[in-house]
Amino acid sequence: MDGLSRRNILLAGGALGALGTLGAASPVSARSLWTWSPGDSVAGAGAGVDPEWVWDDEVDRLIASVIDRGDVAKVNEQLRTWTRNDQAAPAGLPQDVREFMDKARQLPSWADRDKLETAAEFNKTRGFYLNVLNGIGGGMLSTAIPREARAVYYSKGGADMEDRVAKTSILGFSVGDLNAYRADGDCVVQAVKTRMVHAAVRHLLPTSPAWSQVSGGQKIPISQADILVTWHSLATYARGKLLEWKVPVSPAESDAYLHLWQVTVHMLGVQDQYIPKTWDAANAQSKQVLDPILTSTNEGVELTDILLGQLAEQTSPGGIDRPLCNALARYLVGDRVADMDRIPQEPFWEKTIATVWPKLVAFREGLLPLPLVPPLAWTVDEAARQYILAFLTKGKGTAIEIPDTNRPS
Ligand code: HEM
Repeated sequence: MDGLSRRNILLAGGALGALGTLGAASPVSARSLWTWSPGDSVAGAGAGVDPEWVWDDEVDRLIASVIDRGDVAKVNEQLRTWTRNDQAAPAGLPQDVREFMDKARQLPSWADRDKLETAAEFNKTRGFYLNVLNGIGGGMLSTAIPREARAVYYSKGGADMEDRVAKTSILGFSVGDLNAYRADGDCVVQAVKTRMVHAAVRHLLPTSPAWSQVSGGQKIPISQADILVTWHSLATYARGKLLEWKVPVSPAESDAYLHLWQVTVHMLGVQDQYIPKTWDAANAQSKQVLDPILTSTNEGVELTDILLGQLAEQTSPGGIDRPLCNALARYLVGDRVADMDRIPQEPFWEKTIATVWPKLVAFREGLLPLPLVPPLAWTVDEAARQYILAFLTKGKGTAIEIPDTNRPS
């Protein structure tokens, strides 16, 4: 942990430590009883087994074998040539990997091309909000999700957050792309690669003594429940914020946006019996799996500090600086999560953003004339734009690859 992060933790530690939320004492396994009904899923039925105890067996076995037999470099080399949705898995892959990928790249039978097209258009028209919400908001939420923060921190990618953010943004960008699920798009490709990366993490992370110490008794990371948690921190969270900000969203757009994420999480390996059928079902599931587990961890605090530092750095000079960045992050996730992440309070910018953001939204939606938008709003707007630009260009020139080791200690 570098000195700056340690200092931030110590500075914030007094207040939060008193609440019993600091560090190793974090209740990483605090969860509600799983009562969510498979009747509310896209499958409409299911055994109702708690997804806490379900992983992704077939790909988990496959990738464990790829790692154990020393095939990771060979597979990654082939994966680099796999770039389009309509492309069969490369012939040079080991047969078992190719067979899996050719199955895994099929869209579910319930995927609806028209809805995916509507979602793509929606992503285009609402790209500004969605990128801010998924990029900054989702990022800050993820570091308050203990299992995710710790899995990321102790896996290979945790040692190089610059690269990790770049790689993660590849899927984020792909989901928001106009051709996401079209033949020439790459959402299927990135989702299937991510599914294999997650399988690798399930095989590797249990051998990390540092992770095992803080896993709260979880023996294998990235359960189906964990993936759903992250899904809500992206899809359900973003949709909730759009409503809160009164961004006009038609019922067809809302439905299509849900569909896009339903298909994506299916492609990431989540069983249909756990994928919410409606936004109401999603909200109910989110309340059960996401809300109770949000808390502060040393790893999450350090990752937040790195992420915010990168964000401020990328978008300077002449743009966003760290206090504005902190305040924007606090605005997006709210005080409770921001305090968990130890994002410093920035009274001036927080007040400014709370005042100007609704005006910016109203202006963008044609509900407020330009002269009524306060000049400082454009500083905030520019900061968000610069961030989006950096977020969207980061992934270029990098590729999602299967790790063969944990974070070097
Ligand atoms: C890797 C997305 C859920 C932990 C990745 C990557 C993407 C991604 C795009 C590849 C980039 C990279 O290699 O760094 C997602 C999405 C999720 C999800 C969209 C859910 C909707 C989770 C959860 C956890 C997790 C729940 C842990 C609890 C990791 C780790 C890596 C990874 C540790 C890679 C580690 C390494 O670089 O060695 N994820 N993820 N992910 N994900 Fe996820």
